[in-house]
Order: sequence, then C-alpha cells, then structure tokens
Amino acid sequence: MKELIDSSKKIIVFSGAGISTNSGIPDFRGEGGLYERVQDKYDLPYGEAIFDLNYFDSNPHPFFDLSREIVFHNAQPTLCHKWLARLEEEGRIAKIITQNIDRLHRKAGSQAVLECHGGYDKGRCRSCGMEYDFENYEKDIQHGRVPHCRCGGVVKPNVVFFGESLPEEFFHVWENPPRGDLLLVLGTSLNVRPAADLALKFTGLMPSILVNLEVTDHDNRFTHVIHEDLDSFVKSLGN
Ligand code: OAD
Repeated sequence: MKELIDSSKKIIVFSGAGISTNSGIPDFRGEGGLYERVQDKYDLPYGEAIFDLNYFDSNPHPFFDLSREIVFHNAQPTLCHKWLARLEEEGRIAKIITQNIDRLHRKAGSQAVLECHGGYDKGRCRSCGMEYDFENYEKDIQHGRVPHCRCGGVVKPNVVFFGESLPEEFFHVWENPPRGDLLLVLGTSLNVRPAADLALKFTGLMPSILVNLEVTDHDNRFTHVIHEDLDSFVKSLGN
C-alpha cells in the first residue's frame, strides 16, 4: 500500500465525516453518530431531517445548533488532513473532493478542495433570496440564535440540503475528471448521492484505496480496502 501511495503523483481524494472524527466532530452514520444524537435531542422524525428543507422551514433550530457545534467547536485538523496538505505541497494532489462542511481541509492548508456539500461562507434568505456573507450571521450561530434577514425571513447558510443541487464545480468535475493516478476514498459510508457516485465513477478510471472504519456497501468497487482508523493508517505509512 505504501509503495502504491508513494509512487502516485496525482492523487484524487474523496473524503467524508470519518476524516474529522479524531478532531472531535462526530460523523453522521457511524456508531454514536450525529443523526442518532440529534434525533433523540430534538425529537426529529428521522435524523436526516436536520438537512431537510421542509423541516428547516418549520424548525431551523436543530440545524443551527448543529452548525454551532461544527463551526465553533474550534476543531483542529487531524493527522490525516495535515498529511493530505503536505502531499499537496509536494504537488501530488490532483483534487480533494470533500463532503464535509467543517472546513478542516482548508484549515490544514489544502487548497485544491471541492466542498461538494457547500458550506457556511455565504447564506441566503429563505423568503426574499437576499444573499449574506458569513460575517453577517456568524455571531448569531455562535450564540445559538437563528439568523434573520432584514425582511424577517430565516437566512440559511449554503450547506447543501437533501434535494438541493450540488455546486456547479461538482458537475464540472463530473464531466471533466481531473487526471489522477490514484483514488483515495477516506472516512465515508458512501451512502449519500450524488456525491458518492462521483467517487464510484472514479474507481473505474484508476487504482483505488478505500480507508474506512466500517464496511460500506461499495467495498467491492475498490482495488484495496482497509478497515482502520484513518490517523492510524496515516501513521502506518510512516507519517
Ligand atoms: P457518514 O457518517 O455517513 O460515514 C462516515 C464513515 O466514516 C463511517 O462509515 C465510519 O465508519 C467512518 N469513520 C468514522 N471515524 C473514522 C476514523 N477515525 N477513521 C476511519 N473511518 C472512520 O459520513 P459521510 O459519508 O461523510 O451531509 O456522509 C455523507 C453526507 O451525509 C455528509 O456530507 C452530510 C450527511 O448528510 C452534509 O453535511 C450536508
């Protein structure tokens, strides 16, 4: 495995919540994951309702409470995030496609990042569509308040909810895959489409390694599968 990674010059990374659990942010579907927790805490109809637009419009509090945990938790990048940033410095990363909204890849120093589930940089009013920058609603999230627009509507950060379209760049990468010689899929259940479909599409184009604690429904699509903690995996490579 080490030889394959060391000899790769253009690595495409696809990451999920499992890359951030060692920083203290829980994943969604793993044991003790966020969906289980928020469902109990807020008496949600089902865990994923926290990213459901209809539910958000009826009760935005759970989403903003979760956002506070993710954005203001002061989480630090993990060994794995830092390792990927180093590989990029060495010119060996073609693209990091992440499903995560925690910005930890950027915090680690990675630049070639596609955040395919959006993020908090900008938000939009659910009523009048007015756009806001993070600075405009940062304090509200930090203090557990729901941010409101001048018109009174609720401002929803541009995190991609179920049923919403992914950023244009995602479809650009779909149509024009970066040239890669290794696909690294890290810490994801590969349960959420269309994001997971992109990773699976790339498995047909190059050798691939999946590192994930638990078995996924798509393990058989990868050249190599390792069920291990990501930071332990990175250490085992000599980092
Ligand atoms: P999931 O919670 O579905 O999957 C995370 C996977 O990471 C699980 O299979 C865990 O076994 C594994 N894992 C956890 N800790 C790990 C560790 N230290 N080392 C290795 N593996 C570990 O998260 P995603 O696949 O990222 O949407 O979920 C996809 C999307 O579902 C998310 O982007 C989120 C959610 O709806 C948004 O945030 C908009």
